[in-house]
Amino acid sequence: MTVIELKNVQKNYGKGEATVEALKNINFQANAGEVVLIMGPSGAGKSTFLTVVGSLQKPTAGKVLIKGKDISELSVKESNKLRLNQIGFVLQSYNLVPFLTIKEQFELVNRVKKSGNIDKATLEKLLGQLGISGLVNKYPNELSGGQQQRAAIARALYANPEMLLADEPTASLDSKNVDEVGQLFKNLAKNYHKAVILVTHDPRLEKYADHIYEMMDGQMTKES
Ligand SMILES: Nc1ncnc2c1ncn2[C@@H]1O[C@H](COP(=O)(O)OP(=O)(O)O)[C@@H](O)[C@H]1O
Ligand SMILES: [Mg+2]
Repeated sequence: MTVIELKNVQKNYGKGEATVEALKNINFQANAGEVVLIMGPSGAGKSTFLTVVGSLQKPTAGKVLIKGKDISELSVKESNKLRLNQIGFVLQSYNLVPFLTIKEQFELVNRVKKSGNIDKATLEKLLGQLGISGLVNKYPNELSGGQQQRAAIARALYANPEMLLADEPTASLDSKNVDEVGQLFKNLAKNYHKAVILVTHDPRLEKYADHIYEMMDGQMTKES
């Protein structure tokens, strides 16, 4: 099933002489059960791509379809609901709330999204797979970069979204942790039937991908 599709998407920042064409005529799709990797150097447009896919920003031109529905036709309320229910984000800054313990981050999700979150047993299993079961009473700043990263992944998955979008998910991880996180993304796609889209310049993730796209100067080409 195609979960997300972009048709001739463009995204510009600024106006006139100062216009930056961050995305140029992007055509893309991602299916449930697959890990898609977007590779490219800094400034290529990867983060812009991810925020447009996740409906955090509107494209300047073109269409973004989530399960066949054009998101530009959604009201603000509907697009908030869509993000809450269907999209899990792992951003570069981890988006953990600094004054809440890891356990409280999940409780916060329960308050915002009352139903459809993963159950206690599944959460415990997930935390175990991520190697952070023993850290649930700690605050983000008591964790290492890698541990915060994995807590952010758990938080994104807690709401049981259909797609998971991650921006440079392995930036602060050593090779062993990269393999664990890569395998985890792959399992999520295969066993839980999620569409997983990873934006990265880390070639260590390539072996976990079903498809690889290359991004350069706002243009995207499919490699495999
Ligand atoms: N909010 C913004 N305002 C103006 N220019 C931006 C903004 N965000 C990104 N850009 C520019 O768009 C281009 C793509 O940036 P980005 O999507 O962050 O790339 P990447 O994530 O691959 O490093 C860069 O030239 C960047 O400077
Ligand atoms: Mg970026």
